[in-house]
Amino acid sequence: MNLGNGLFWLVALIFVACNICSGFARESQLRLGKAINIFVRYGYLGISMRVIPYNDSYETDKWLFKEPTKSIYKDLNSLSESREENAPGIFHGDFHMEFCDNRRQLYQAYFRDFTVDRLDKPWEAFTGGWFAENAAKKLGINTTFLLGEYSYVLVRVVRFREVGKFKGDIPLNQTLENDVRERINGIQKGNVTGAIKFMESCGTHYINSYTTGNSLYQVFVYTRKNYQQIRDRIKTKGLNSLSKKDLYDFFAPWHAVHLGQIRSASSNATVERWARRKLQYEYYVVKYVTLLKLHGNGTLLKALDNLLGNDAILQLDLKSLNVIFRNEPEKQSWFNEVLDNQMKLWEVNMPMN
Ligand SMILES: *[C@@H]1O[C@H](CO)[C@@H](O)[C@H](O)[C@H]1NC(C)=O
Ligand SMILES: *[C@@H]1O[C@H](CO)[C@@H](O)[C@H](O)[C@H]1NC(C)=O
Ligand SMILES: *[C@@H]1O[C@H](CO)[C@@H](O)[C@H](O)[C@H]1NC(C)=O
Ligand SMILES: *[C@@H]1O[C@H](CO)[C@@H](O)[C@H](O)[C@H]1NC(C)=O
Ligand SMILES: *[C@@H]1O[C@H](CO)[C@@H](O)[C@H](O)[C@H]1NC(C)=O
Ligand SMILES: *[C@@H]1O[C@H](CO)[C@@H](O)[C@H](O)[C@H]1NC(C)=O
Repeated sequence: MNLGNGLFWLVALIFVACNICSGFARESQLRLGKAINIFVRYGYLGISMRVIPYNDSYETDKWLFKEPTKSIYKDLNSLSESREENAPGIFHGDFHMEFCDNRRQLYQAYFRDFTVDRLDKPWEAFTGGWFAENAAKKLGINTTFLLGEYSYVLVRVVRFREVGKFKGDIPLNQTLENDVRERINGIQKGNVTGAIKFMESCGTHYINSYTTGNSLYQVFVYTRKNYQQIRDRIKTKGLNSLSKKDLYDFFAPWHAVHLGQIRSASSNATVERWARRKLQYEYYVVKYVTLLKLHGNGTLLKALDNLLGNDAILQLDLKSLNVIFRNEPEKQSWFNEVLDNQMKLWEVNMPMN
């Protein structure tokens, strides 16, 4: 980055001021090629995209994506494809677990399938603004266990419904929307205001691919010591070669300090209720609910296949809007420079940092 420090802050001020008055887009659609300005809700993107429980109003207020978007290119339909996974009799998804040394890694794991071009830590675009109490609720655990010296295992069962992606690169001669073509003229090397104005009116990134569906997940909290033992055992032996008894044992309340509630990405109450009822496990006098009951159980997975609807975004790839300057390398590199500068600025200014 070759902008001076003073300029760096000046740019920040302009940007915040402009966000307040920004008259960006009037519509919101999860559609390939639609552009968004990620800075408007940087650190809080989960407010406008259904990716993790936001608040419990979903049952009355159904939406998947309400981030304002803008059309950049005309006639993209023939370049994109989407398919739905609905064949009966099989589970369309996967069961996985992720080992997280600390809270940051837990956030990163949850947002593993979300990428934002030119951003080193894309999960921060969703989690940067989280405060512990709220974050703990989303993740289904008690706040105490998010703040202490703990490690985590995120166990998740994902059901994919719809996948949207481009068939190939957007052709160089793809026709731009008229207003976008005009606004490109506002970008000149060395003029920060021009580049920022462009980002406000057209966006910073466009939707390059997405997957929707729903998931169930549960966070298991461990002391650092227990966590290391369990992680080493599972990593060396592999999940599938462990006996069922060993597996249950590792994730039982006598090994973990805390078992989170089972939550669904969309916070769908019907699905969460099903999990509480069907995934109970009893070991002598100890009774608890565990997502591990789904591991290798075709009957339960098949039931879940029908139950997990199309209520959440499971994967999203946001590509830089610099694609539209492919014919003008000088504008493209200036756009990149200003974008990178903004990203760094927002990364360091988030409350959790
Ligand atoms: C919950 O979400 C609804 C609709 O999305 C919104 O109107 C409401 O303000 C939210 N409540 C809180 C406490 O954030
Ligand atoms: C976690 O929080 C819930 C609700 O506040 C409470 O009922 C429960 O006892 C807590 N569990 C632990 C282990 O602290
Ligand atoms: C772009 O170029 C290709 C090949 O030259 C042509 O087939 C296509 O119609 C052009 N597209 C537009 C939008 O002009
Ligand atoms: C920079 O761009 C803005 C917006 O396009 C324009 O109003 C301003 O005159 C430009 N500044 C210079 C020094 O060219
Ligand atoms: C699958 O889960 C059901 C319901 O809990 C149980 O009755 C059945 O024995 C399980 N099957 C296997 C293969 O574990
Ligand atoms: C929750 O999931 C159930 C079962 O798939 C579905 O019938 C219901 O419409 C979903 N609720 C919402 C608010 O999406």
